[in-house]
Amino acid sequence: MHAVTLPLQGTDHGFRDAARRLIGAAVAPDQVSWHHGSAAPDLFGGSQALPATGAPINVPRAFVELMNAVVWHSDPERFARLYALLWRLRDTPGALQDRADPAMARLRKLEKEVRRDKHKMTAFVRFRELDADGPRRAFAAWFEPTHFITEPTAPFFARRFGDMDWIIQTPHLTAHFENGTLRFSDGAPKPPLPDDATEDLWRTYFTNIFNPARLKVKAMQSEMPKKYWKNLPEADLIPGLIANAQSRARAMQDAAPTLPPVFSDRILSRPKPPDTRPELHRQLSACTRCPLHADATQAVPGEGPLDAPLMIVGEQPGDEEDLTGRPFTGPAGQLFDRIAREAGLDRSAAYVTNAVKHFKFTPRGKRRIHQRPNNDEVQACRWWLDAERALIEPRLILALGATAAGTLTGNGKAITTRRGTVEATTDGTPVFLTVHPSYLLRLPDAALRAQETARFREDLRTVAAMIAAP
Ligand code: URA
Repeated sequence: MHAVTLPLQGTDHGFRDAARRLIGAAVAPDQVSWHHGSAAPDLFGGSQALPATGAPINVPRAFVELMNAVVWHSDPERFARLYALLWRLRDTPGALQDRADPAMARLRKLEKEVRRDKHKMTAFVRFRELDADGPRRAFAAWFEPTHFITEPTAPFFARRFGDMDWIIQTPHLTAHFENGTLRFSDGAPKPPLPDDATEDLWRTYFTNIFNPARLKVKAMQSEMPKKYWKNLPEADLIPGLIANAQSRARAMQDAAPTLPPVFSDRILSRPKPPDTRPELHRQLSACTRCPLHADATQAVPGEGPLDAPLMIVGEQPGDEEDLTGRPFTGPAGQLFDRIAREAGLDRSAAYVTNAVKHFKFTPRGKRRIHQRPNNDEVQACRWWLDAERALIEPRLILALGATAAGTLTGNGKAITTRRGTVEATTDGTPVFLTVHPSYLLRLPDAALRAQETARFREDLRTVAAMIAAP
C-alpha cells in the first residue's frame, strides 16, 4: 500500500509527480491512499515508498485540464478519483468523453465547483488599505473559499493589482504579493483588519448598481451566497435593499416616462378648434405650438365682431401689442387706423388679427427689436388663424404684408408685385392683398412714403367698397 501526502502549496505539482510515478510502476488505484497537507492521518504509517520517477507518460490534454481544477477541490476523494480515471485511461482512452459514466460525472461536478469557487474569490475579495512605508500602496484581505483555490486564483490578483503590494489571507493558505513577486505561506485564522475608506466606496457602489426592479432574491443569493456576506462591507445593506425593493421598483415605475398613446388615441385626443370666442381665448392663452410663447408676454387674439364681414390679418403683435394683449394698438396700428378712416374703412366693424399670435423679438438693451416669424412659426400658428376664420366666416379678408398673404393664400411670392389684387384662401374666401403699414413707417424718403401711403389708402378704399357691395 502506498500512502501519498500532497502538500498544501503546490498540490497540483505534487499530484502530477506522484501519479506519474505510480502509473509508471503500474500501481493500481486500490493500492494507494491519498492525503493532503496536515490533514493527512498517520502520514507514512505502514506505507511503501513512492516508486522512483518513471518515464514520462502521455495523458490527454482534457485530463490535464480536469486535473488542474479538481486537485484544488476539498473532496477528500478527489485525488483517488483522478488517479482511478488516469488508470482507466490506459485501456479506455474514450472514458473522458463518456458523459454517462458516473465517475466522470462526479469529476466534472468537482471541476465545476472549483471554477465557481475561483470565480467567487475574484468577485468577493475586498481589500483594505494598510499603512505602507514604501512607494507602493499595501492592502490586505481576508477570504474564506470553499475549496483550496487560493493558490490557483492568486495570479489573477497579481495581474489585476500588479502595482501594489497585497496579502490575501485564507484559512489554509496566505498569498503574498510584494514588489511584483507572488509567494505563499501557511493559512491563518481571520486577522483583525483596519477599517478603510474603500469600504464606504464599496457600499456606495453596491447601493447604486442595485436595481430593485430586477431583483430576484434566489438568483442573487446564488450569485452572492450568504457565506460570503460576512466579509463584504456592502453585505449589511442587502436585507434593507431587498426589503425596500418592491416599493422602490414601484416608485421607479411611477417615475418612468409613459408610453406614447397609440396613433388612433392621438387622433382622438387632438384638440378641437375652439368654436366660441371665450374658448378660443382660453386655449390660445396656453398655446405652446412653437417656441415663441416662451419669450412673449402673452398670446394676442384677434378682436372685433364675430359677424364681421371683413377680417384684417397682420403679421404678429408688436412690442406694444404684446403688452396690451390687443392687436394693432402700436405705431403701425395707429397709422393703419388713420389711413383706414381716410379711406372710409371702419376698423371697428372688422375682425382684426394676426398671422402669428406671439411677439417675436431680440432684446437690444432695454428695447425689444421685432423679428420676422419664420415659416415654422407661421405654420404652427395657422391653426389659430383657421380657427378664427371658421368662427368669423368673413366675406373678405384683407392681408397686410407678405406673412399674412403667404399663410392665407399659400403663395409666398413678393407682395409688391401682388398688392392691390385679390387671391383666395384654399377654401375660396377672397383675400385682398396689400402692404403692411409698418412698411410705410420704415420708408426713409418722405416723397416715396407719401406716394406709398396714397396707394395704401387706395387699397383700403377698394376694400371698403368691396365690403359695402351687396
Ligand atoms: N403689426 C402687426 O402685424 N400686427 C400688430 O398687431 C401690430 C403690428
